[in-house]
Amino acid sequence: DWTAANIADALVAQVKQQIGDGRAICGLSGGVDSAVAAAIVQRAIGDRLTCVFVDHGLMRAGERVQVEKDFVSATGANLVVVDASEKFLAELDGVSDPETKRKIIGREFIRSFEGAVSEVLGESAAHGETVDFLVQGTLYPDVVESGGGSGTANIKSHHNVGGLPEDLQFELVEPLRLLFKDEVRAVGRELGLPEEIVGRQPFPGPGLGIRIIGAVTRERLDILRHADAIAREELTAAGLDGQIWQCPVVLLADVRSVGVQGDGRTYGHPIVLRPVSSEDAMTADWTRLPYEVLERISTRITNEVPDVNRVVLDVTSKPPGTIEWE
Ligand code: XMP
Repeated sequence: DWTAANIADALVAQVKQQIGDGRAICGLSGGVDSAVAAAIVQRAIGDRLTCVFVDHGLMRAGERVQVEKDFVSATGANLVVVDASEKFLAELDGVSDPETKRKIIGREFIRSFEGAVSEVLGESAAHGETVDFLVQGTLYPDVVESGGGSGTANIKSHHNVGGLPEDLQFELVEPLRLLFKDEVRAVGRELGLPEEIVGRQPFPGPGLGIRIIGAVTRERLDILRHADAIAREELTAAGLDGQIWQCPVVLLADVRSVGVQGDGRTYGHPIVLRPVSSEDAMTADWTRLPYEVLERISTRITNEVPDVNRVVLDVTSKPPGTIEWE
């Protein structure tokens, strides 16, 4: 009988059996999969699970708080937050090339995660305990894509790069391996995770770093974060979340155009809205958003976000355009 409650119970029981009285660690990305995987394991082994969240400073408004407060209060999980934003910004300084950005972000993410894992292991060792299990939010489509083999140790982070050093050996715990995304969401709701986490749209691992066309700076991140928050708020208020697969908001940081705002002439940046409808992100169509909603988003962004004087709409399908601009 495939109800979310039955699935949740079965998964918790399986994890209990796999981990026994051992200890586990889980990296949270802010996304749905890692949050639901962690919630299942938390149900199974309680505070013998430690969750690690690396804040790379490239998250959207409110996302860190969702993990720090909402996830923790819903699950009672032990959480270690690593604030690595200074390091990420320093490493990204002056970098405009998309693939170079991805490499830097992926590498720094693994470094920060490893650092936090080593600290957790060190603390456990001081209490005479070992941590033998690593929790991952691998879904069925990921399993199929990678040829089905389950393994040990190798971290498939949300950046799909790198791995832990050879001397850190973990057995993997992958409670979602047989589930599809909608089932994961149902199980997450069953476990009491808030809708902001469970209903979250896909967001790339490199975050806002690949939605700034040009080099990433703190000021540019603030501008983009602000515009993105307005767009999300208006789309949600208009009841459009169900029709949209995701809506990247992109800052053309190296482009300026002339505008007239308030008392005078401005020379500011354009913001691009990229709403797409899709089944699986492999192909996508641009979402025909109602003009009134577009107007509200445009008016608010140009009024409320400093340095932005133009909002443009991306009307390209995938292919030929990818969903993200980088
Ligand atoms: P594209 O831009 O290739 O995106 O059409 C397809 C889906 O993948 C997401 N995406 C990423 N996810 N790391 C991620 O974890 C990345 O580097 C990355 N690039 C794109 C994108 O948001 C969309 O859902």
